[in-house]
Amino acid sequence: MSQDRVTLLLNGVRHNVPPQVPAHRTLLQYLRDDLGLKGSKEGCAEGDCGACTVIVEDLVEGQLKARAINACIAFLPHLHGRSVVTVEAVAEPDGTLSPVQQAMVECHGSQCGFCTPGFVLSLEAARQNGTLVDANIDDVLAGNLCRCTGYGPIVEAGRRAARIAPTATEQARIAARLLALTALAHETSSNLAIDHCGSHSFAPASLTSFAVLAAAHPAATIVAGATDVGLWVTKRHQRFPVMLYTGRVRELHAMTERDGMLSIGAAVPYTEAMAALGRHWPDLGELLRRLGSVQVRNSGTIGGNIANGSPIGDSAPALIGLGATLVLRQGDATRRLPLEDFFIAYGKQDLQPGEFVEQIEIPLTARADEFACHKVSKRFDQDISAVCGCFALRVENGTIASARIAFGGMAATPKRALAVERALIGQPWTEATVALALPAFAEDFQPISDMRASAIYRLRVAGNLLRRTFHERQFGRDRTRLVGADSAIDAE
Ligand code: FES
Ligand code: FES
Repeated sequence: MSQDRVTLLLNGVRHNVPPQVPAHRTLLQYLRDDLGLKGSKEGCAEGDCGACTVIVEDLVEGQLKARAINACIAFLPHLHGRSVVTVEAVAEPDGTLSPVQQAMVECHGSQCGFCTPGFVLSLEAARQNGTLVDANIDDVLAGNLCRCTGYGPIVEAGRRAARIAPTATEQARIAARLLALTALAHETSSNLAIDHCGSHSFAPASLTSFAVLAAAHPAATIVAGATDVGLWVTKRHQRFPVMLYTGRVRELHAMTERDGMLSIGAAVPYTEAMAALGRHWPDLGELLRRLGSVQVRNSGTIGGNIANGSPIGDSAPALIGLGATLVLRQGDATRRLPLEDFFIAYGKQDLQPGEFVEQIEIPLTARADEFACHKVSKRFDQDISAVCGCFALRVENGTIASARIAFGGMAATPKRALAVERALIGQPWTEATVALALPAFAEDFQPISDMRASAIYRLRVAGNLLRRTFHERQFGRDRTRLVGADSAIDAE
């Protein structure tokens, strides 16, 4: 039995989305235009500025887990059975400001105020989860832009709020939402299917249902965290006859580690995957931290990033470097495919009709010190890479025993540098070997020039990243890295 309308907890109150609301409507449009909740703002409508930030809460091991997300690129079916908190519900009913809001006032953290609700909710989410600590504040706020105040007062407000224990009102509200969400979870545990003016949205709850729907609708647009698809709607004004959501499929949220293999379900958000991957390979944790803001990482998934096949996505080169395999499902049948073979050409992946990415399997063979990731982008945080290079290099007795090197931004797909690998394997791990391998980059890659970088720059940078890998292995990373890899893994 399927449910035919989205039901969620909105600011602590159970809320049914009317059936006439189209499935491509974003949460931000619904809040502002349909419900008149104008506190959340639209700055960019593409997940960059954070003005639309709201908190989404889920039940995790009997507790509420708060996540800041961008409402401008979240679709309503994604919120079915979840709790949404907007800035309207942050102050106490009598108007007393929350500790975060009060700190923003006292620190002069707001001028025009357009960005302020977003900043407040990013800070509130981290504070609710107990992760608002001085070392993390920059990362907590990296997804919120302010054009007029300057960030010093806002960061100071975050520091001040971090030192204030949860008030009795805050605790009581969280306890009430926990109770209400627990009740709602039982009622919303089945499949969701919404028909609206000839378009269909499905948010199945089980893998079996998802596979059946994918087979029945092979042309469906599969939506994971919507950090890409959301932009297709808000920027390109695309509409989709059938949308199929991964986010409620229990099995696709599984993450396991056994027999030397880390398996990550296709619907696991970056935030959770980053914590696991960063424990094994701190450099990869840091790469994922820079891939997007907290809000983007809380919604976006590695599975979605891979399935979309972007040549400039950061997760694919890293996972190719680690020798990852995809588990692809079509109905009851599964097959395994090395990730590097999944990308056929620009926008073309090795997927049969009705087939989808179920899991990513990553062998735990590379040691942390054998794996380096380098992201080169115009802006340090949450920018798209011009070049992303990942290097898994094993050196035994001074000789390069194995090499897996993969790049994003250098070709029409994420791609291994096979000629460079051949030039390295079996050679002494020396600067001279690195220098001799550099011309092989031109065999592997003929990059394009675009707004992010010229072809010649990309080729030069790719070689320099190999040189950087060598220098970091020889002399440490103090001179080559802006930030440590350790500080931000737990920021969410
Ligand atoms: Fe800019 Fe949503 S409006 S991130
Ligand atoms: Fe004006 Fe931040 S206070 S944009």
